[in-house]
Amino acid sequence: MKAKLNYSEKLGKISKYIYGQFAEHLGRCIYEGVYVEDDSVPNVNGMRCDVVNALKELEIPVLRWPGGCFADDYHWRDGIGDKESRPYMVNTNWGGVVENNHFGTHEFFELCEQLGTEPYICGNVGSGSVREMRDWIEYMTFDGDSPLANERRRNGREKPWKLKFFGIGNEAWGCGGGMRAEYYADLLRQYSTYLKDYGDEPLYKIACGADKRDTDWTDKVMKSVGGRMSAISLHNYSFERDWDHKGSSVDFDEHGWYSNMASAYLMKETIAAHKKVMDENDPDGKIALIVDEWGDWYDVLPGTNPGFLYQQNTVRDAVAGMMTLHIFHENNDRVYMANIAQMINVLQAMILTEGDQIVLTPTYHLFKMMKGHMDGERLALDYDEKPYDTDNGKAVKISMSASEKDGVITLSACNTSLTDGEDIEIELSGADAKNASALVITGEMNAHNTFDEPDNVKPENMVVTLSNGVLSFKLPAKSAAVITVK
Ligand code: AHR
Repeated sequence: MKAKLNYSEKLGKISKYIYGQFAEHLGRCIYEGVYVEDDSVPNVNGMRCDVVNALKELEIPVLRWPGGCFADDYHWRDGIGDKESRPYMVNTNWGGVVENNHFGTHEFFELCEQLGTEPYICGNVGSGSVREMRDWIEYMTFDGDSPLANERRRNGREKPWKLKFFGIGNEAWGCGGGMRAEYYADLLRQYSTYLKDYGDEPLYKIACGADKRDTDWTDKVMKSVGGRMSAISLHNYSFERDWDHKGSSVDFDEHGWYSNMASAYLMKETIAAHKKVMDENDPDGKIALIVDEWGDWYDVLPGTNPGFLYQQNTVRDAVAGMMTLHIFHENNDRVYMANIAQMINVLQAMILTEGDQIVLTPTYHLFKMMKGHMDGERLALDYDEKPYDTDNGKAVKISMSASEKDGVITLSACNTSLTDGEDIEIELSGADAKNASALVITGEMNAHNTFDEPDNVKPENMVVTLSNGVLSFKLPAKSAAVITVK
């Protein structure tokens, strides 16, 4: 395949926040995954050193917390102060387990500080109140003399935290209250009125958005709420086939591979549908689209708690993940943030843990390889995606994206074919390119890392040549590669 990259045609910044993460009080994501209460696993203030060190390599730009569905059942006051006095609760959304509230606001900011990431907190609309939400903001961000700010000080934090991203409810149409769009939009107007800016930076208010292709929700919320919000969210998961046929995360066949690729590729159509509605309501593009939950969702691993959403992660997830990230890049005029679900031990995770062991997943390696795109300028790239049909919809054989940052070109390319590699030649028009190197994730379609074999899937060097301004490489079947050109 011949392709052309035009170095002088810049198509806007690829926001680093597209590489955001999500950590919910769900299964073993927070407890065991990130936070431990005894010293059997080395930790700093409860945060696992092995997990934090591995995640730091990803330079995570933003972390969403505490949910998800959990957010609308979460009362922040239960998670502050002396740990032994914090009330217990039942996590009704996720397995009915007891939540001891030992990981609360202070612990979340501690985690963000250790990771060097920005916080994104999702507030409770479903079972909370306007007062509860406005108080939380004051508790976290007010520097002056107020009962709430002083309570924060008594709990060990003198200075306010820096908090920009705040979500007003989660899945209000479902676990967040079963609301109609009209009702939620009215609540959003009310809640956002009372969320004040205490710090230098205004709060970036994120409205609860639609499920998949429910553009009616986006339309109604935008019409009613308009400039009272900075962004509206969207949740769009992919499955082996669909919600009722999620499939196994490891034991799948060719059909499961292609059907999942089609499910992931649907993100393109989904974003296009919401963008159309957003363009009609907000022609100046002031309100962003934030895909704050996405990723591959399969059946839980046999023998694990069905409420814990624990699954494996294979080469299939790395390839589908790259294709999805490219769709976000292509829509960088609206998509400002995305948060893969979820960071540890849940759904399409970066890391799996078992006791004091951790394993890095193919998706972890993908995110590490893609870092060059964060805040890069997207470059025009002409190529043929080679679309094909599956019995679960359309997919593409090749997906590519390129960006430039500090004079370095990052080019990512994935191949969804199980059988056919692709010889690719890219003319680098206008670029003063001197050398190129490449890493690739590939292997058997269901290859994955385990605690016994943690390096089954990891980035390997890929041969790439640069001659007379043309970049040439063979992209293997079932692969995701990142090429760096300097
Ligand atoms: O990520 C798991 C769940 O998926 C979230 O809690 C919820 O928002 C969504 O339905």
